[in-house]
Amino acid sequence: IRMENITQISREDLEELREAFNRIDIDNSGYVSDFELQELFREASFSLPGYRVREIVETFIAGDTNKDEKISFEEFVSIYQELKSKEFSESFRKIIARKDGIRSFGGMSGISSEGTQHSYSDEEKVAFVNWINKALDKDPDCSHLLPMNPQNDSLFKSVRDGILLCKMVNLSQNDTIDERVINTKKMSTFTMTENLVLALNSASAIGCTVVNIDASDLMAGKPHLVLGLLWQIIKTGLLADIEIGRNEALIGLLGEGEDLDHLLSISPEELLLRWVNTHLTNAGTQTIRNFSEDIKDSRAYFYLLDQISPKGEREDELAVIIDMSGLRERDLNQRAELMLKQAARMECRQFVSPHDVTSGNSKLNLAFVANLYHMHPSLPNNNVDPDMHIEAESREEKTFRNWMNSLGVAPYVHHLYRDLRDSMVIFQLFEKMNVSVDWKKVNPSPYPVLGANMKKLENCNYAVELGKEAAQFSLVGVGGVNLNEGSSLHTLALLWQLMRRYTVMVLSDLGEGQKIGDQIILNWVNTTLTQGRKNTQITSFNV
Ligand SMILES: *[C@@H]1O[C@H](CO)[C@@H](O)[C@H](O)[C@H]1NC(C)=O
Ligand SMILES: *[C@@H]1O[C@H](CO)[C@@H](O)[C@H](O)[C@H]1NC(C)=O
Ligand SMILES: *[C@@H]1O[C@H](CO)[C@@H](O)[C@H](O)[C@H]1NC(C)=O
Ligand SMILES: *[C@@H]1O[C@H](CO)[C@@H](O)[C@H](O)[C@H]1NC(C)=O
Ligand SMILES: *[C@@H]1O[C@H](CO)[C@@H](O)[C@H](O)[C@H]1NC(C)=O
Ligand SMILES: *[C@@H]1O[C@H](CO)[C@@H](O)[C@H](O)[C@H]1NC(C)=O
Repeated sequence: IRMENITQISREDLEELREAFNRIDIDNSGYVSDFELQELFREASFSLPGYRVREIVETFIAGDTNKDEKISFEEFVSIYQELKSKEFSESFRKIIARKDGIRSFGGMSGISSEGTQHSYSDEEKVAFVNWINKALDKDPDCSHLLPMNPQNDSLFKSVRDGILLCKMVNLSQNDTIDERVINTKKMSTFTMTENLVLALNSASAIGCTVVNIDASDLMAGKPHLVLGLLWQIIKTGLLADIEIGRNEALIGLLGEGEDLDHLLSISPEELLLRWVNTHLTNAGTQTIRNFSEDIKDSRAYFYLLDQISPKGEREDELAVIIDMSGLRERDLNQRAELMLKQAARMECRQFVSPHDVTSGNSKLNLAFVANLYHMHPSLPNNNVDPDMHIEAESREEKTFRNWMNSLGVAPYVHHLYRDLRDSMVIFQLFEKMNVSVDWKKVNPSPYPVLGANMKKLENCNYAVELGKEAAQFSLVGVGGVNLNEGSSLHTLALLWQLMRRYTVMVLSDLGEGQKIGDQIILNWVNTTLTQGRKNTQITSFNV
């Protein structure tokens, strides 16, 4: 870039360009990626013929002398000059402004259609930063990063060395990561990448879906990916003890005349809703159906807080009497603020701002409630039969479940056996290991009310057929009916072989086709198992 190019632009223009550039350069790296620029061009093409845009982008990429696919401010200015046609630069600026608008007003997240432009929610960023600041406050390994400023983009810079993510995974599920394997000193790109890979692998081990994200995305601090991963990690931790297998006191939520099987089959989110509604019913007020529309007026929250606040019954606890006068406040934002002040007295002002309540942000409100549950469960113990005992999830079951969830199967598998009863997830697993599934033979959900189980059973029969014929698994004595009944023995027999096939496939890919024997995998599984539960070992895959 020659200097005379730049001096042709007026000082005002230059300042404006600098501002625009800084807005695209979300992480303040001093560069924007060429793909980001291309997206902007693509969007602007209505005012400039398509061939012109392609030409410009190609010229630019060809001329990107250092081929780093990054565009510095100076390069940006020269592109702008090439495009000085008034019409074009105006629409270009409009798009830059819009991009910024999405970011500062929030309300959107995830991948937009076509994946051309990624937006993210500012509310989520603020909520997660506050949460992490508190959660890792005392961890000396994070003192160089914390506290982060929730108002700027320091989160996206702070995740780069991987330490913060590793710590958050470990916090979500105790002891997932060994202290000694995180690099904390002599940080270089290499050690940072190691940490990030460790964080991704561990996140996947606790059931987060990480198929669309790699260490370089995190290193680059791509906001939508960082927030997406953090949400999964935080949510896993928040919902961890809302599962009957892990917390038998939840049986107290059993409705009258309801059988335990039903309670076992519902997701943690639904259980949480039921927990809220149990308390609302006890308070004699209306129940809620979700964490968006129905909580906007703070009414449910006031009553919930009042029900669960400490009553000073134990010697070591101070009673917190909830001030309900906020219910009379007309302005919903102020009412939400008064409610959150009460939550703060219980040390539970987390995740939501008054605006997140009144706008019904379901993600953040779920987190707020999950944390309330975590801090003040106050479960009723009316229905608990002392003889009722629920088998806790075993280490192997959890390993299978996390494995399939990390591959991004849908719907998310909460219960290994119950959630596989229609074999939909099994079909997805087959596809992931190149066993082709004839979807014409599969009955899709939702199933008809009448005969639903017949449809599911047909699916299971087909899954077993695929396993025996297409995948050549050894499935002696396993029938569709066994999977449909949720028989652990038979389901595990199939899952072992699926996971083995998958692991061999991945390992061979890594080892450039080198054959990976059962022995290597068995050793790995053996080690994994013995770390957890001493009495489980496997000697072979033969079933
Ligand atoms: C964010 O603000 C803090 C001050 O609160 C500052 O130290 C930090 O450098 C800022 N980070 C970014 C990425 O702007
Ligand atoms: C994790 O560890 C903390 C402190 O060591 C403990 O309070 C908490 O109950 C543990 N959580 C689980 C799920 O084991
Ligand atoms: C992970 O959590 C456990 C307690 O739950 C703690 O003892 C251990 O030090 C943590 N590991 C790291 C790397 O912070
Ligand atoms: C929440 O429930 C209300 C009815 O109370 C409904 O109108 C709304 O669509 C629901 N929202 C979601 C996200 O399910
Ligand atoms: C699976 O199929 C995909 C696409 O059909 C192919 O690229 C890949 O190499 C296959 N993998 C194996 C292990 O056969
Ligand atoms: C797994 O470990 C047990 C006990 O340590 C051992 O007897 C068994 O042979 C091991 N299995 C394999 C496949 O290495």
